[in-house]
Amino acid sequence: MPASPVPAHIGIIMDGNGRWAQQRKLLRTQGHLEGLKTAKRTVKAARELGAEYLTLYVFSTENWKRAAEEVGFILGLVKQYLKAELDFYRENRIRLRHAGDPTGLPADIAQDLREAAEETREFDGMQVILALNYGGRNEILRAVKRLLQAGTPALTEETLSRHLDNPDIPDPDLIIRTGGDCRISNFLLWEGAYSEYYFSDKLWPDWTEEDLIAAVRAYQRRDRRFGGVQP
Ligand code: IPE
Ligand code: IPE
Ligand code: MG
Repeated sequence: MPASPVPAHIGIIMDGNGRWAQQRKLLRTQGHLEGLKTAKRTVKAARELGAEYLTLYVFSTENWKRAAEEVGFILGLVKQYLKAELDFYRENRIRLRHAGDPTGLPADIAQDLREAAEETREFDGMQVILALNYGGRNEILRAVKRLLQAGTPALTEETLSRHLDNPDIPDPDLIIRTGGDCRISNFLLWEGAYSEYYFSDKLWPDWTEEDLIAAVRAYQRRDRRFGGVQP
């Protein structure tokens, strides 16, 4: 990798599982199974690259519109993942966190997420944030509600930010979307205000470590001005 900085926080909209399966005349659920493998590979690859935070968009507040079987299958995979991967997280001192509304999730999954977050809370390796029942608008709305409940006097960008789901995590530097669509689909709306976006036509199950490196390289060539001008 070039010497320029690796993005500290990478967010990924992991899209294209269903199309991957359909192209192979398989069930959409088979695509999610393959997508899970890619997610596991990507956690390892991001860690090796030296990213400090990785936010994975697993299930959006809009994804409840899908068939009950597909929703159930995805949530089942999450449950399995939380059980099966915990040893890997322990060994590598990776901290697991959740972004999204836990109250809309089945109680057992919300509890598994809470327990995994609690158990890994002191780990100082990379942090992996699972965006699950996550919507950017919903997160902002919940932040405003918390802020009002806390009776915070001043409504500023700073005080609102502090009531988001994971206020200590820096904004994503790089947001990747696979699957060919160039949209945000309600992912990290507040936090992504100045993220660099990278869109790939590859379907998520086909995404590799080399693709992640290519995205990071592209990021490293970007000129981040944040509204200013280069001297
Ligand atoms: C992304 O893949 C996974 C989730 C949204 C849960 P999709 O299931 O959206 O796959 P496509 O976009 O239909 O191919
Ligand atoms: C975005 O993908 C959500 C996740 C990857 C979890 P979608 O497939 O739900 O997005 P749209 O429907 O194409 O906007
Ligand atoms: Mg999709």
